[in-house]
Amino acid sequence: MIRDKGVQKQWMKDNEIPTSDFLLLENKTELENINWSMPYVQKSRKDGYDGKGVQIIRSKEDINIAFEKDFLIERMVDFEKEISVIVARNKNGEVKCFPLVEMDFHPTANLVEFLISPAEVSNYTEMKAENIAIEIAEKLDLVGLLAVEMFLTKDGNILVNEMAPRPHNSGHQTIEGNITSQFEQHLRAIFNQPLGDTSSKFTSVMVNVLGEESYTGDAIYKGMEELLELSGVYVHLYGKKITKPFRKMGHVTVVDDNREEAIRKAKFVKNTLKVIA
Ligand SMILES: Nc1ncnc2c1ncn2[C@@H]1O[C@H](COP(=O)(O)OP(=O)(O)O)[C@@H](O)[C@H]1O
Ligand SMILES: [Mg+2]
Repeated sequence: MIRDKGVQKQWMKDNEIPTSDFLLLENKTELENINWSMPYVQKSRKDGYDGKGVQIIRSKEDINIAFEKDFLIERMVDFEKEISVIVARNKNGEVKCFPLVEMDFHPTANLVEFLISPAEVSNYTEMKAENIAIEIAEKLDLVGLLAVEMFLTKDGNILVNEMAPRPHNSGHQTIEGNITSQFEQHLRAIFNQPLGDTSSKFTSVMVNVLGEESYTGDAIYKGMEELLELSGVYVHLYGKKITKPFRKMGHVTVVDDNREEAIRKAKFVKNTLKVIA
């Protein structure tokens, strides 16, 4: 169910978890024969990650370059924000959510550029999103962590996009930003210990460190010293030797008591740290 996005969407539908309409299709001929209004989203059922395996079909011409087989199509969601909730559940059935985070995506790479914790949403949205995450965790009889990626639509609804049963990119900032990190929470959950306090200590902003677009080769990190001069900037590199356009090479977490200041520092990080070859 986690490997196969088709099975996952079907599970959500069967379990009345709100999600966008979709169709499971086997091949391109089937795609040519449906008449869904464009644009819509095509996703490979398996082996997609970091936006690879997701594309928007905007026109008849796009069908030519569409994935060949074993995919689904989804209605394009006109969202206000993308949000994510990480929920933990232990064997006793205790559940706890991390505060909602909001994500800003890179327009072409389909990859998170900025993630802000906690999200700026109403209490009602926060509660609704948490309830959905908890409902999924309980229906799956989950033990451990589950990250639930959601869309907050312009009319205030929540639709679940996808989920991942593990420590997640949208929880990296909990290491520095929250009382308990997602990694500690995972251990507490699987060892059936009381779950930790998930409250935020600061506003935290996570910036993915991506390979610059026109460089492939031995990675060089430019601008590191300027980052390290700042307060509340934590650099996490993944030790990948080779950089490629948009390859996820690491992330930086920025924390601050002040939300605007945290975002300002994160933008500085993004503009300053460059992975070249
Ligand atoms: N139905 C949809 N409507 C609008 N945007 C979508 C839709 N599905 C995916 N996207 C966009 O593409 C991104 C990647 O899709 P996702 O299914 O999360 O794949 P991945 O496994 O690569 O994370 C999403 O975070 C979102 O920005
Ligand atoms: Mg995703």
